[in-house]
Amino acid sequence: SSVLTHDFVVQATKVTRLCKTREIITVNGQYPGPTLELNDGDTLVVKVVNRARYNVTIHWHGIRQLRTGWADGPEFITQCPIRPGGSYTYRFTIQGQVGTLWWHAHSSWLRATVYGALIIHPKEGAPYPFTKPRRETPIMLGEWWDANPIDVVQEATRTGGVPNISDAYTINGQPGDLYNCSRNDTVIVPIDVGETHLLRVINAALNQELFFTVANHKFTVVGADASYLKPFPTSVIMLGPGQTTDVLISGDQPPARYYIAARAYQSAQGAPFDNTTTTAILEYKSAPCPAKNGPTTTPAAPVLPAFNDTATVTAFTQSLKSSGNALVPNKIDENLFFTVGLGLFNCPKNFKCQGPNGTRFTASMNNISFVLPSNISVLQAYTQGIPGVFTADFPANPPTQFDYTGNVPRSLWQPVPGTKTYKVKFGSSVQLVLQGTNIQTAENHPIHLHGYDFYIIAEGFGNFNPKTDTAKFNLVDPPMRNTVAVPVNGWAVIRFVADNPGAWLMHCHLDVHITWGLAMVLIVENGVGPSQSIEPPPADLPPC
Ligand code: C2O
Repeated sequence: SSVLTHDFVVQATKVTRLCKTREIITVNGQYPGPTLELNDGDTLVVKVVNRARYNVTIHWHGIRQLRTGWADGPEFITQCPIRPGGSYTYRFTIQGQVGTLWWHAHSSWLRATVYGALIIHPKEGAPYPFTKPRRETPIMLGEWWDANPIDVVQEATRTGGVPNISDAYTINGQPGDLYNCSRNDTVIVPIDVGETHLLRVINAALNQELFFTVANHKFTVVGADASYLKPFPTSVIMLGPGQTTDVLISGDQPPARYYIAARAYQSAQGAPFDNTTTTAILEYKSAPCPAKNGPTTTPAAPVLPAFNDTATVTAFTQSLKSSGNALVPNKIDENLFFTVGLGLFNCPKNFKCQGPNGTRFTASMNNISFVLPSNISVLQAYTQGIPGVFTADFPANPPTQFDYTGNVPRSLWQPVPGTKTYKVKFGSSVQLVLQGTNIQTAENHPIHLHGYDFYIIAEGFGNFNPKTDTAKFNLVDPPMRNTVAVPVNGWAVIRFVADNPGAWLMHCHLDVHITWGLAMVLIVENGVGPSQSIEPPPADLPPC
C-alpha cells in the first residue's frame, strides 16, 4: 500500500454554462473537481488550501474514517471550517472498501460545484468479482444554477420558503445538448463493439433524486456505495444524492450514438422541481462520424420513467443484494426509531415568510430540528469535555407515536430546535428504523450516516409495524450502503456495529433538508485501548 498526496486549492473560477458565464468555487480550477484513484489499503493525504471567500471543509463521502474522525469534514461536526486564507491536511487510510465513492464540500451549499469522484480499486493484484471491464468512467450527476447556489440558499433561509430550483442537471459538469446553447457542452463516452465498460455513477446533485439510463442498452448492476452487489440486469437505476451505483454496459448494439441521460425522480407531491433532462453520448468508436458543422446524427433517444414512478424505484431497490458474506448483527443492543420529515415553524417577527400560510419550512428527526454549533465542532466539544455545545438527549424514539404517514395533527408540525446527540457504547449492535413522515408533505429522503456502512435489512410503505414487518427482514444478503433512500410515505430498517468511535453526522442528503434541520449526531464512545479509540486531533486542525 502507498501514500498518495494531493493539493486541493479551493478558488473562484469562471465557467460558462447555458450561455452564461459566472464565477463558481472549484478545486484546482476544475469543475467537477479532480478524480482521486487509489487502492484499498492506501493512505490519502490531501492538503486543502482555501483561496476562496467562503469557509470550506471537504468530506470524503462513504469513507469509514476508522478512528480518524478528524478527517471526516462536516463543518462544526468534526472540525471548524477552513477560513479564507487557511489550510488543513486531511489524512486517512482506506480500510476494506472497494468501489465508487466521492468527495464534496460540507459547508453551506458549496458542494454544488465543489465535488469529485473517489475511486477505490481492489488491493494491488486483487481482482474484481466480475470480468474486468475494458474501460471505466466516472459519471457524476450534478445540478447547475445560473445564480450562485450560496445566494440561493441564503435567500431561502431568509424567507423560510422553498429555494429556487436548479436551471440544469449536468453529467460530469456538462448539461448536454438538450439544453439551450449546450451543443458543445456534451460529454462523449466512448465504447467499442464487444467491449465492456464500467460506469461509476454518482449522484452529486444538491436536491434531487435522479433516474439514470442509456438508450438501447441494459446495465448489469455490480455495486453501490463501494460495496459489491449480486449482479442483476436493469435498464434504469435511481440514485438519491450521495449514493453511487456501479454498472457494466456492453457494446452489443449497432455502432452508433446513444444518449446517456438523467432526469428527476420526484416523490413529493406538488413540490416544484427541475424537470429537464441532462445527457451525455455513448459513442461507438466505429460509428459514422457526425459531419463537422453539418446536421449531427441524433443519438438514439433515452427512455426514462415518469418523474413520480415510485414503483420503478421500489423494484430497483428490492433487487439490491449483497454479493459477499453479509455479517448482519443478530443480537441488538440499541433499538432506535427515528422519524424523518418536514415541518413548519411559525414566522419570526419582522420576517416575510414564504412557507405555507405564512409559516417557514423546517425539517427534523424525532421532532428535533438540528442546529449546527457555531464556534466549535461537536467532536472537539465531546473529546475535550466542553459543556454547552450540544446535549446528549436525542431521543431513541419519537416523542409521541402517531400515524406517521397519514393525517398528521397540526400540533405535531412544529419540531423543537436543538443540537442533540445520541451516544452509544463502542461495539454496540444498532438497529435503526427510519420512518418517513407525512408532515406537510411526504417524500423519499436519502439518509446518510457518516463514518459507517450499514445493512439495509428491510424497506416498506406506511407505518413500520414491529409485530409484522420483522418478517420482512433480510439477514442473509442485504445490501450494504452509506446512504439509504427511505421510501416516500414509508420506512427503512438499517443495522450496523458501532465500531468506529467519534461524532458522526446523520442527515438527509437533500441539502435543502439539512439546511432545514433534518440531521442528528451519533456519538460512538471509545472502547478499550488505542485500537478502539479515536486518534488525537491533528496539529493543524483549523482554529475555531
Ligand atoms: Cu455526502 Cu454529510 O455528506
